[in-house]
Amino acid sequence: MFVQAPESIQFSSELDDFIEEWKNRPGNLIMVLHRVQEEFGYIPRAAAIEVAHRLGVNLAKIYGVITFYHFFKLTKPGRNKIQVCMGTACYLKKGEDLINELENILGVGLNTVTDDGEFSMEAVRCVGCCGLAPVLMVGKDVFGKVTKAQLPEIVAKYRKA
Ligand code: FES
Repeated sequence: MFVQAPESIQFSSELDDFIEEWKNRPGNLIMVLHRVQEEFGYIPRAAAIEVAHRLGVNLAKIYGVITFYHFFKLTKPGRNKIQVCMGTACYLKKGEDLINELENILGVGLNTVTDDGEFSMEAVRCVGCCGLAPVLMVGKDVFGKVTKAQLPEIVAKYRKA
């Protein structure tokens, strides 16, 4: 059974064009979901329903894909997304200590958003710069050889004044 399109979500014209271009190609669902997540930072339910409608696939199939691939998020991340690398090199360089300290500073744990919506934090696999371990990213900015002592300053840099 296919679902009705919701009226409450607006896609950018770029996303509209992308879906139109990929609509009939094999493997389109994952490509489209990637673009949706790029646009919203996660997959809002209304967007999943809209994608189901436009691609003519069952909503259950979409949620099957979203929940199978850890890359896809079902909840909105903070305005600043902090990713702490927990790949082998970073783990060995005590990346976990960074997570614990960030939990103290932010007052939230992994995969949670601060009350003001400013920050969310997640542990990720190798981000590809192991020589800089331990590594964390805030949005697209990369911080290497991070110490616990540097964390308050890094967080303050991104907190809205
Ligand atoms: S393990 Fe952290 S960057 Fe590779």
